[in-house]
Amino acid sequence: MAAQTDIRPDMRMVDLDDDGVDRAFRADVLEGLGAPQKAIPARWFYDDEGSRLFEDITQLPEYYPTRAETEILRERGADFAPLIGPGRAVVEFGSGSSLKTPLLLDAIRPGAYVPLDIAGDFLRESSAALAAKFPGLPVHPVEADFTAKVTLPDELHHMAKLGFFPGSTIGNMVPRAAVDLLRTMRMTLGGDALLLIGVDLIKDIEVLTAAYDDAAGVTAAFNRNLLKRINRELGGDIPIAAFAHRARWNDTYARIEMHLEARAEIAFTVAGRSFSMRAGETIHTENSHKFDLRSANTLLLAGHWTPVERWTDSQDRFSLILARAGVPRKAP
Ligand code: AVJ
Repeated sequence: MAAQTDIRPDMRMVDLDDDGVDRAFRADVLEGLGAPQKAIPARWFYDDEGSRLFEDITQLPEYYPTRAETEILRERGADFAPLIGPGRAVVEFGSGSSLKTPLLLDAIRPGAYVPLDIAGDFLRESSAALAAKFPGLPVHPVEADFTAKVTLPDELHHMAKLGFFPGSTIGNMVPRAAVDLLRTMRMTLGGDALLLIGVDLIKDIEVLTAAYDDAAGVTAAFNRNLLKRINRELGGDIPIAAFAHRARWNDTYARIEMHLEARAEIAFTVAGRSFSMRAGETIHTENSHKFDLRSANTLLLAGHWTPVERWTDSQDRFSLILARAGVPRKAP
């Protein structure tokens, strides 16, 4: 008889060189540190330590998004379950530790669960925990960079998909990258798919900045962990203590930006290349875009998804949107 869990050790999709260095990480870091405004894509935060620090962030009093989204998932299941229907394969993009997933899986009757994540060890641990909670549910973890089309396991080809992209992770992308990602997700999920996506809403600037600059300094540690990862994985000697954590609201783009600011003039090397920074110069490490209902809908439509329904938490901080694959015709 089949085991109660069905966890497939899917292929690694990370491209390592002979020294075990992730080529894409090195390329992004070297290019980013060489740019006039130094910048490193936020996806590199999530090594195992970064993933753990992010879980700590979600517990902080200042960091409301996780609690607000959890409230929606917990309390509105009876509203979204009938719109989703039973038997879909739930494909979660960037599953992390999958803490919100049980709330979704409890509310609907899924045919399978497919967590996609680039942090492989973390993915396997959390998949095992989830499979234990849902005996009989096929779980197919896939270690993958979901910004490219992902080939899902063969067993799922006959099932309609529900993409699950919680946490307002879409907000970490600038609009053109977000649109690319939404279109790629649609290709991964197929033509009859639905998408359940979380978006954080525009609100009071003090509330927003506090969520990204908490009193306990966990977000600062999360931000600085990127430098630790660079030093460890790319043979760098960046003086981490020389950097201050900064979180600021950019009103033009409706986003919180995180930066690492050099407190003094510094020089360092990464992968054999030399870099220098002036006092006050920053490395831009993250954007977290915030939305209103209309801007979120416009983004979804541009990404080839049609909004169906949306739910918001009791304090209007965060929204969960259900969309279906496809868009209305091009011309009126
Ligand atoms: C990954 C989108 C959930 O942008 O709010 C939290 C990451 N960065 N604190 C966000 C993050 C700093 C987070 N998400």
